[in-house]
Amino acid sequence: MHAIRLKATEMSRALRRSLEAGIWKEADRSIIFHDLDFLEKRVRHIQNLFPGSFLHAVAAKANPLPRLLERLRRWDVGSEAATMTEARLAEMSGYPSRHIVFDSPAKTSDDLRYALRAGWHLNADNPGELERIDSLLKEIASESVIGLRVNPRVGMGTIAATSVAGDYSKFGLPLDECAESIKQAYARYPWLTAIHVHVGSQGCSLNQLEKGVRTTLDFALMVNETIRRPNGLPPISHFDMGGGMPAAYLPKEPSFTIDDYAQRLRDSCPELFDGRFRVITEFGRFVHANAGFTASRVEYVKSYAGTRTAVIHVGADLLMRRCYMPDQWYHHISVCDAEGRLKETGAMEQHTIAGPLCFNGDLIAKDISLPRVEEGDYVLIHDTGAYTLSMWSRHTSRLIPAVWGYSEKGGFEQLKKGETVEDVYRFWR
Ligand SMILES: Cc1ncc(COP(=O)(O)O)c(C=O)c1O
Repeated sequence: MHAIRLKATEMSRALRRSLEAGIWKEADRSIIFHDLDFLEKRVRHIQNLFPGSFLHAVAAKANPLPRLLERLRRWDVGSEAATMTEARLAEMSGYPSRHIVFDSPAKTSDDLRYALRAGWHLNADNPGELERIDSLLKEIASESVIGLRVNPRVGMGTIAATSVAGDYSKFGLPLDECAESIKQAYARYPWLTAIHVHVGSQGCSLNQLEKGVRTTLDFALMVNETIRRPNGLPPISHFDMGGGMPAAYLPKEPSFTIDDYAQRLRDSCPELFDGRFRVITEFGRFVHANAGFTASRVEYVKSYAGTRTAVIHVGADLLMRRCYMPDQWYHHISVCDAEGRLKETGAMEQHTIAGPLCFNGDLIAKDISLPRVEEGDYVLIHDTGAYTLSMWSRHTSRLIPAVWGYSEKGGFEQLKKGETVEDVYRFWR
């Protein structure tokens, strides 16, 4: 059984080692860390749960750092790209074309031409895109596997903004309402050989994820039974089941694990496991979130209104969702002293952890109970490996912190340099 998340003691140990190793320079006020052993174990664990007919294309939007993309590629996973840039990052990181899954809903004709020439796996979002692909394929001999995104309408998860299988979704075509035209697309386009579904990211239940996959699978099987290609083969050979496996953020145990999800699919969707389909997954958050944490120095502590406000050096720039939608997103907080030792004992006091940005909602935690936080301490923000740096906000021109990976064997390895003022000047010019 693979660990669910990094423990505070493990993070504090890594922080201590990083301080001893001298990786904190004077300019470093925060550092984002990734436990590379944990990340590898998580990837291997996912790979072991599913048969070899599955390709795990990790969603680059969760974490697009090339040094991590390269590492994932070496572990034989693919890369799911939400944009042309992400697909190019995967290409530049050495992914074979067939392991790049290009999913943007707004692909231009130039994007499509490039993707078809490169032979990436391509998921179309709508009929207009299918038409464009069809006319491009008249001039391009492509090895791309091409699919269509559908919405199984299995309902919303607990977070509306990241739920995409409700009655309305801006992505794909609803399977019930558009069943006939989707079926016709498989009959009309001989190159359309894949189907794509993604139910949502974080906040979806096991039942919802399973139902989304099962509903889409029923449709694919129906298409394969009723339509035959001139070569006698059924149209759909690739089934992309999307991501959406939730990561653990809250201190309590998550309501289901990846083992539960894999077992549920084995029980209810055996057709995905018998080799008839090449199955693609697009897990992002679950792969990266729990392998990362952020340490930030406490610059000041001030005490009033019944709370000790600790001002640190990341806020809504790194943790946009947490700060703008605090009821829906959560990161656990621990505190270490200036030497990186975990503060575990002593009287607990009310604290508010404030970021450095210029608005009052820039709070990572409000009125939480922590051992006394003091100037020069380090606040550890748990589970920041996914959808944090990749959502970085430039508001107030904050510098992106350095990112370091560490492993038992390899020690510390810089994954990204911290930004300088000159970098930000170039960005704005
Ligand atoms: C099409 C698609 N695939 C995969 C993902 C990754 O989801 P998660 O990181 O929750 O696994 C997303 C997230 O938005 C997505 O839109």
